[in-house]
Amino acid sequence: MRGICFILVYLCCCFGHTHLFAQEAFIESKTDFHERMQWWADARFGMFLHWGVYSSYGGEWNGTDYGKETGGPSAEWIYLKADIPKVEYENTAWHFNPIKYDATAWVKRAKQAGVKYMILTAKHHDGFALFNTQASEWNIMDASKHKKDLIRSYVDACHHQGMHVGLYYSHEKDWYHRCKIHRDTSSVSEAYKALVRTHLKELLTNYGTIDVLWFDMGMNRHRDLNLMCQQLVREYQPQCIISSRIGNHLGDYKNLGDRELAMPGCKGYIESIMTMHLNWGFDKNDSEWKTANEVISMLSRCATRNSNFVLNLGPQPDGRFAPEENVRLQAIGEWLEKNGEAIYSTKGSPFQGEYHWGSLTHKKHRVYLHLFGSYGDEIKVNGIVSRVKKAWCLHNHEKVDFQQNPEEASFNLKVPLKASALPCPIIVLELAETLQVNKEKGPIDLPPVLKHLHRKSITGRITATEALGFTIENDNEKIKFKLNDKLKYRINDKGTIRQVSGFHLQEESEYKVVYTDVEEPKVNFITKIIDRK
Ligand code: GLC
Repeated sequence: MRGICFILVYLCCCFGHTHLFAQEAFIESKTDFHERMQWWADARFGMFLHWGVYSSYGGEWNGTDYGKETGGPSAEWIYLKADIPKVEYENTAWHFNPIKYDATAWVKRAKQAGVKYMILTAKHHDGFALFNTQASEWNIMDASKHKKDLIRSYVDACHHQGMHVGLYYSHEKDWYHRCKIHRDTSSVSEAYKALVRTHLKELLTNYGTIDVLWFDMGMNRHRDLNLMCQQLVREYQPQCIISSRIGNHLGDYKNLGDRELAMPGCKGYIESIMTMHLNWGFDKNDSEWKTANEVISMLSRCATRNSNFVLNLGPQPDGRFAPEENVRLQAIGEWLEKNGEAIYSTKGSPFQGEYHWGSLTHKKHRVYLHLFGSYGDEIKVNGIVSRVKKAWCLHNHEKVDFQQNPEEASFNLKVPLKASALPCPIIVLELAETLQVNKEKGPIDLPPVLKHLHRKSITGRITATEALGFTIENDNEKIKFKLNDKLKYRINDKGTIRQVSGFHLQEESEYKVVYTDVEEPKVNFITKIIDRK
């Protein structure tokens, strides 16, 4: 008996990766696991695509807006949220005929933007398969007049252009085949499991290599379903990477919440997913676009926080990207072309906190200072012990003057004027060795703006609770939010923009709020923090 235990302990030590214990058949050593994750960790930048029958509505049905800007979940939820009758939705599916869809152009554009992996919704919560399937007739070949497998052309285009291919598959929620209720807690029927099994087998065996399977909204109580999904992936494509939203800790990496950016000090494999405006699926009324600079700064922040950044597009029903999406992709591509070295294949900052001017990534003998915060013509860097040989701006190779103080493990750098005019300039430090740090001397605290702002994104009703404090609430969640009276806010007061330093909400008042981002909440009520000091 003791011998058996010893062997088990020995095996656990050798193959100690956590998901070894979560599954029966798949055994993988830690080394193999890290090898499998390597391309993904190096990639840092991905693209999400929410596209399907729901795109045809653009967030609106019968004159009512069901998109996120009106407090709803997001445009791709319209079948449920507007409670569209089945026959009406089926009719829309029949007319879903994306004649302008050009997967080769999609992938080309993604590549120009510097994207390293793409994730397309093969089946979202409406249960509609964008691929050819024998599992049910609710798919692009049988239920739409388009009759072309949209996943086939997408996967082929990715393969041809050397893009890592990801598929989103809603395994838990399926309002067509399983249950059209928002908080459905019923057990999963054998018939539904059989459908999922067929879908996944098809996706994993008919299209060649699939690099990522992005499961969503798995509930831990449905371990049987989640485990089945995981095992199918392991059986047909063992190298494929699985999102943690599969449930029951069966995934390979950690997905953060929708639109939640990683916080400083993250460890392991992390993915932050972000929308370009508010909605995931196409929404014609959504004009809350993040600027290209905001998106670039999010990508940069994520890399310094050791997280991948996946940016969402909601293609139009005819298959084209929106002009606003193209503009942003173009800007990110231009920025990455010059600064990609500071993003791809780097490691995040070794420090718990962040400097007020930003943070850093590093690889080999180089450190990249990401200046996404606030700074003047000089910045101070604490905590780096290694000797700095030289420093320059990554985008134009301009030399940067610095003075190192080895006793203090700190140095000062002069930020060239031109660099500070850019959206997130990067300064490279060439070290005499690989990065050595003194963590106590480095930044240990979060910048005040991160400390007090809630990092979750939420759209909902706002109610005053106390001076400077309020809650935001919607059908799914409720968060508390406290303003900092030392910061200045720009307030949208019934259309007039005012600048205030903290403010009191009226007790018992109700306001509509759209709060989208960690550092710079964009809300209907509070539009932007304009001063962080
Ligand atoms: C959510 C939503 C969904 C969207 C997803 C993206 O969980 O249900 O519509 O696909 O987040 O992360």
